[in-house]
Amino acid sequence: MSKSVRDYIRSIVDFPHEGIIFRDVTTLFADARGFRMAIDQLLTPYAGMRIDKVVGLEARGFIIGGAVAHQLSTGFVPIRKKGKLPGTVISEAYQLEYGEAVMEIHDDALAAGERVLIVDDLLATGGTAGAGITLCRRLGAEVVGCAFIIDLPELGGRRLLEAMDMPVHVLCEFE
Ligand code: PRP
Ligand code: ADE
Repeated sequence: MSKSVRDYIRSIVDFPHEGIIFRDVTTLFADARGFRMAIDQLLTPYAGMRIDKVVGLEARGFIIGGAVAHQLSTGFVPIRKKGKLPGTVISEAYQLEYGEAVMEIHDDALAAGERVLIVDDLLATGGTAGAGITLCRRLGAEVVGCAFIIDLPELGGRRLLEAMDMPVHVLCEFE
């Protein structure tokens, strides 16, 4: 049987901490067939929809977002961790397991009314993507969906995003 997107993802035990199984998408990105399959499948629900910009979440969301934007012939906008973007930004804090993190977007990166698709490699607690949705909405953009290669359903991210009225698209799940 031919390989699915999930089959290309490598699992590394005890990274970055003991007890964590890290789902590594570098093995998917490195494979021509796997990478193309993932980008094509990420786009399926949005066929025929108007999308003006693709927004990628640092860092692996940039790799996916560039490819998706190219495929859709749209621009690409990065949402980065605090202190990385050179222009004027707006910021949004979100909860980590211990403490808080902050994501930022250039304040002129999206225009009011633009329809955006947010992409990232993995959905865990949903904190990162939730902050991304809020940043886009604060600039007046309409987020039409969030697409991920991997969902870790036990961590509840999909519930969090759906509670923000956000359609979520994932290609595969890991426990
Ligand atoms: C990972 C992943 C998502 C985020 C998901 O990124 O690529 O962006 O965590 O977790 P959440 O749903 O609990 O917010 P990470 O923070 O490890 O950053 P990196 O891509 O820069 O390594
Ligand atoms: N981010 C949060 N949990 C992760 C995991 N298990 N693998 C890869 N990235 C993650």
